[in-house]
Amino acid sequence: MEIEVLRLGHRLPRDERISTHVALVARAFGARSITYSGQHDAGLEESVKKICETWGGPFKIKYNPDWRNLIKNFRGIKVHLTVYGEPLQNIIDNLRETPRDVLIILGGPKVPSEVYQLADFNISITLQPHSEVSALSIFLHEFFRGKELMKTFENAKVRVIPQPRGKKTLFLNNAPD
Ligand SMILES: C[S@@+](CC[C@H](N)C(=O)[O-])C[C@H]1O[C@@H](n2cnc3c(N)ncnc32)[C@H](O)[C@@H]1O
Repeated sequence: MEIEVLRLGHRLPRDERISTHVALVARAFGARSITYSGQHDAGLEESVKKICETWGGPFKIKYNPDWRNLIKNFRGIKVHLTVYGEPLQNIIDNLRETPRDVLIILGGPKVPSEVYQLADFNISITLQPHSEVSALSIFLHEFFRGKELMKTFENAKVRVIPQPRGKKTLFLNNAPD
C-alpha cells in the first residue's frame, strides 16, 4: 500500500512556497510521491529533489496537467481533502484497513466540482477552512497512527541527532555537495 498526493492548480509565483511545503510534508509523513497540476515549476521540482538527495528516501515529484485523467485512472482509493467533506474521524478507521494505494487530492484555487464526484471520499479535517499543508499532515498522521514520527529514510546524506537544545547533525556516507 502506497500513498500518493495530487496537488491541484499550482500557480506561479503565488504557490511556490506552499506547494514546496505540501511536498515536504508528503515526504516526511510517509507518502511515496506528489504530482502537481496547474503551472509547470522547474524550481519547485528542483528544491524537492535536492531535499530528497540530502535527506534520503524514494520520494518523487511529478508534473501532470491532466489531473482529470490522473484521478480517473488511479488504481486505488481516491481521497479528496476539503472543508466540505465528511469528518475525518468518521472515516479514518475504515480507510486505514485498505490494502489498496491511496491518492490524496488537495486543492489550491477553486476546486472544480468534478473532483468531488471523482473522489471516493471527500474528507474534512475540522469544519473550518485552513490549508493544504495542515490538512495533509493531519490526514497522514491519523492514517499512520503516529508511526510516521519514527520514520527513517534510506540513502540519507545527513541525519539529525535530536538535542534538547542546539543543533546536531551526522553526515553519512557522502557529505552533501
Ligand atoms: C486554502 S484551501 C483553498 C480552497 C479554495 N478557496 C476553494 O474554494 O476551493 C486549499 C486546500 O486546503 C485543503 N483544506 C483546507 N481546509 C481544509 C479542511 N478543513 N479540511 C480538509 N482540507 C482542507 C483543501 O484541500 C483545499 O482545497
